Amino acid sequence: MKVDLRILRFDPERDGTPHWESYELEAGPMDRVLDLLHAVKNGPDGTLTFRRSCGHGICGSDAMMINGRNRLACKARVDQIGRRISVAPLPGLPVVKDLVVDMDGFFAKYRGVRPFLINEAEEPERERRQSPEQRARYDDTTKCILCGACTSSCPSFWANPGYVGPAAIVNAHRFIFDSRDEAGDERLEILSDKDGVWRCRTIFNCVDACPRGINITRAILEVSSAIVERVS
Ligand code: SF4
Ligand code: F3S
Ligand code: FES
Repeated sequence: MKVDLRILRFDPERDGTPHWESYELEAGPMDRVLDLLHAVKNGPDGTLTFRRSCGHGICGSDAMMINGRNRLACKARVDQIGRRISVAPLPGLPVVKDLVVDMDGFFAKYRGVRPFLINEAEEPERERRQSPEQRARYDDTTKCILCGACTSSCPSFWANPGYVGPAAIVNAHRFIFDSRDEAGDERLEILSDKDGVWRCRTIFNCVDACPRGINITRAILEVSSAIVERVS
């Protein structure tokens, strides 16, 4: 089918502001938006710049705004979106070039919640055991691929760029509720800051944007409840 693809382009060495460019392309029945971007790059305009790696929804590198909603280009099927497709970089993050945004601030916030297992106790002879119920407690938040679609779709983050954002909270949740970890209190302290969980206004854009179907709002509420329980 014929597709009208519009892409918000920006080259900092040439453009004062971003502008739309249009391409008429032929799409196959199983094509994804990522295939259309490759068709532009390998055809009419080799300067088009975007990130992608796995091509299969695993690496999280090709999140962008497609027809007004944050999604992964490699998971966005053209036949499910329609003949008129507009693609723009993730909102709320500085644009480096075309569809590439600067993720440094995003990853700094992620690192700020110490997203790794912390346990200073002597190492057991074998593995640190965990029951199926203990593992299930944080199963949902292990699914995050750090694509940034949630944080960049959050109006509270747009209004307060200091807000740690849903992605960092999801990754803190993954360890706060891990029975093998000992640094939950430290992470709750970090997230009780004015730019922590209290910035969430339960707007739910993050849940809608998440390509992994994570119940982000529930994770945020569980972390806020743990903060309240800790001080009461
Ligand atoms: Fe992406 Fe979902 Fe992780 Fe947010 S929680 S970074 S939307 S995978
Ligand atoms: Fe933002 Fe999601 Fe909360 S969109 S306000 S982090 S529910
Ligand atoms: Fe890896 Fe899309 S290219 S998630």
